[in-house]
Amino acid sequence: MTAAPTTTDGVLVDRYGRVARDLRVSLTDKCNLRCTYCMPAEGLPWLAGPQLLGDDEIVRLVRIAVQRLGVTEVRFTGGEPLIRPGLVGIVSAVAALEPRPRISLTTNGLGLERLAATLRAAGLDRVNVSLDTLDRARFTELTRRDRLADVLAGLSGAAAAGLTPVKVNAVLMRGVNDDEAPALLRFALAHGYELRFIEQMPLDAQHGWDRTAMVTADEILAALGREFALTPDPAERGAAPAETWLVNGGPDRVGVIGSVTRPFCGDCDRTRLTADGQVRACLFATEESDLRGALRAGADDAELARRWRTAMWGKRAGHGIDDPAFLQPARPMSAIGG
Ligand SMILES: C[S@@+](CC[C@H](N)C(=O)[O-])C[C@H]1O[C@@H](n2cnc3c(N)ncnc32)[C@H](O)[C@@H]1O
Ligand code: SF4
Repeated sequence: MTAAPTTTDGVLVDRYGRVARDLRVSLTDKCNLRCTYCMPAEGLPWLAGPQLLGDDEIVRLVRIAVQRLGVTEVRFTGGEPLIRPGLVGIVSAVAALEPRPRISLTTNGLGLERLAATLRAAGLDRVNVSLDTLDRARFTELTRRDRLADVLAGLSGAAAAGLTPVKVNAVLMRGVNDDEAPALLRFALAHGYELRFIEQMPLDAQHGWDRTAMVTADEILAALGREFALTPDPAERGAAPAETWLVNGGPDRVGVIGSVTRPFCGDCDRTRLTADGQVRACLFATEESDLRGALRAGADDAELARRWRTAMWGKRAGHGIDDPAFLQPARPMSAIGG
C-alpha cells in the first residue's frame, strides 16, 4: 500500500485515486420530523451543546477544505439544517470564501418558505427538499408530524427565491408509499422541480432496514415506465450519485440514486464533516477522524488540513453493503449528515 500523504495542501485524494471535491457538512443531528426510516418516534440521544462545532469552527474547517484541499461544492445537511440558529451567517461566511464554492442545502423544507429569500441573499445557490408522499395522512404517518403543507410551501418558497434547480428527494417504502412514484413525478414536472428517488439504505437508527423490503431502482424505473417514456440522459454523469433519465424525450429529467443495487463508489467525490467535527470518508465508514479535538487543542490550518487528507487517504473502495461481513455504522444518517 502506498503511504499516506504527508503534505498539508493539495486535493483530498485516496488510495484509489478518487478526489473529494464535494463536502457535506452536518449542522446538527436534531430534527423536527421523525421519518420512520430515519429515526425513532422519541428521537435520539442528541449531541450536547459543547460537542457541536460552533459557527466559527464550521466556517474555519470549510475554509480549509476550500482553500487548501480543493473542495468546490459545499452542501449543508443534518439532522435538519434549517433549525441551526447560525445557518444564515454560516452560509454568508462560506459564500464570501475565495474561491467561492457552490453552496446547497438538503432540508425537509419546514420553515423554508420563511427563510428561502434570506438564504438566497446570504449566498445559498440551491436546495434539495425531501418529500416522500403527497398524501397528508401518509405524510403524517411517515414523518410522525402533520406538516405536509409546510413542506409544499417551503418548496414554492425556494423556487420563488431562485434557489434553483429545486431538487426533490424521495425514498419509497414497500406497502407505505411505493405506489406514488408516478404521482411524485407528475407533481415535480408540474412545478419544475427535479425529482430523484433514493434507495433506502441501512442507516436508520433503529437498524430496521431489510433488503427484501427495499424498493429497488429497477422497480422504481418500471413503475415510472408504465406512465412515462424514459430514455437515458446523454449528459455526462460525472460523480453525481443520481442516474438520470429524460422524461418523455426531455428536457425534463428524473433521477434514481441506487446506492444499494447500483453503487457508484468508484466515482465518489464526497467527504463529510459531522456536526461534532469528525471527518468521515463515506456515509458507511466505521472510522472517523477527529478534527474538533485538534482544532480546540490549537492545531493550525496546516495541521488540520494534514489530518483531513490522512482521513480521506484511508477511504475504502466501496460501502460493502453486499459483503456478508457488512456492519451498519454506529451513527445513523441523521447524525452523520445525509
Ligand atoms: C438524513 S436527511 C437530512 C436532511 C433533512 N433533514 C432532509 O430530510 O432532507 C437527508 C436525506 O437522507 C434521506 N434518508 C434518511 N434516511 C435514509 C435511509 N435510511 N435511506 C435512504 N435515504 C435516507 C432523507 O430522505 C433525506 O432525503
Ligand atoms: S430524513 Fe431528514 S427530516 Fe426525516 S427524520 Fe431524518 S433528518 Fe429528519
